[in-house]
Amino acid sequence: MLASETPQKFSIPQGLSQKLWDIDFQSNIFNAAGMFKKGEAYYTVSAQGAGAYLAGTTTSRYRRGNEKEGILHPFASYPGSAAALNWMGLPNEGHETVAKRISRLDKQAGCPIGVSIGSSPEDTGMKALSGVLDGFKLYDKAGADFIELNESCPNVVHEHDENDEGGLDSMLVERLEFISEKFLSKRSRNLPVILKISTDTEKELIPLLIDRLVELRFDGINIGNTSTDYESARTMIAPNEIKTFDYFTKTFGGGLSGRPLKKKSLVLSTLASDYISQSNLSREFHVIRTGGIENERDLLNSKKAGVQLNQWFSGYFDAFSSSGHKAYEKLFRAYAAFT
Ligand SMILES: Cc1cc2nc3c(=O)[nH]c(=O)nc-3n(C[C@H](O)[C@H](O)[C@H](O)COP(=O)(O)O)c2cc1C
Repeated sequence: MLASETPQKFSIPQGLSQKLWDIDFQSNIFNAAGMFKKGEAYYTVSAQGAGAYLAGTTTSRYRRGNEKEGILHPFASYPGSAAALNWMGLPNEGHETVAKRISRLDKQAGCPIGVSIGSSPEDTGMKALSGVLDGFKLYDKAGADFIELNESCPNVVHEHDENDEGGLDSMLVERLEFISEKFLSKRSRNLPVILKISTDTEKELIPLLIDRLVELRFDGINIGNTSTDYESARTMIAPNEIKTFDYFTKTFGGGLSGRPLKKKSLVLSTLASDYISQSNLSREFHVIRTGGIENERDLLNSKKAGVQLNQWFSGYFDAFSSSGHKAYEKLFRAYAAFT
């Protein structure tokens, strides 16, 4: 099993390491949230060359996840389109269990440990907020190096309000304000917090969101999560996969991942990165790009856009299926030869 193997370390080519928020990342790419929901496989991916490790998403308590038509955690891959759909619904063991596991890890140099936190979709209002806050506190205590707040899972309900606040969803802003007041402003150590948004986010919202996040003491933005824009994605699905693609979206809905997100994640990350470099922000704030990252060209495009960290999910499993533990090593060699 992937999680129980620790491959031989190799020497990561120069120029890939990053120092952001005073944290050393041995390379500029690591797993996206949802891959290691239980906090497993840290030593595996750190030895493979991942620039960091991300556990979760976890919620305040155990969640079984979505089931429909007798299928638990519906997932379909579309290899001809380098895409996948999932309607998993955040299955996880809960903050406390995963925080305990994280606290026991022996940290490897250059591979900081991050955790993705989300709210329990059954909870609303203050109950949902305090569940998220508990997560922040537990992972702070467990020694996590950074935290990603997942506000963008399309397979669960995130409370939202049509009455926007300066263009932004006012309920989202209220949640961010709560986290800022109860946690971000009270941090007693370096613990960057990043907001993960959807790759379906409207371009116009990016500057507004960044201004608000900086004001509220967030440290970065991850763009982004899976897409539910099936209509435009459909044009990127191979003809022989359209029927099963339509079946899945009609039956379950779900979030689309993989190559169809590549352009969107680049366009939005570029916008965010340009906005940050043009603005005189009052704190260190970075963009992480996720969505459709699969090869050296993607890493180069991110770099050109001013994005120093990338995450991959679909592309990683594709690379792992052909290169096994050498997935990162092969990517880095191709990148070094390409640049
Ligand atoms: C099976 C599966 C489970 C996922 N679970 C989560 C999750 O728990 N939390 C989260 O923030 N994103 C989750 N994602 C989204 C990924 O982190 C990532 O944002 C998305 O897949 C786009 O990246 P990719 O194109 O490299 O796959 C999941 C994606 C997949 C395919």
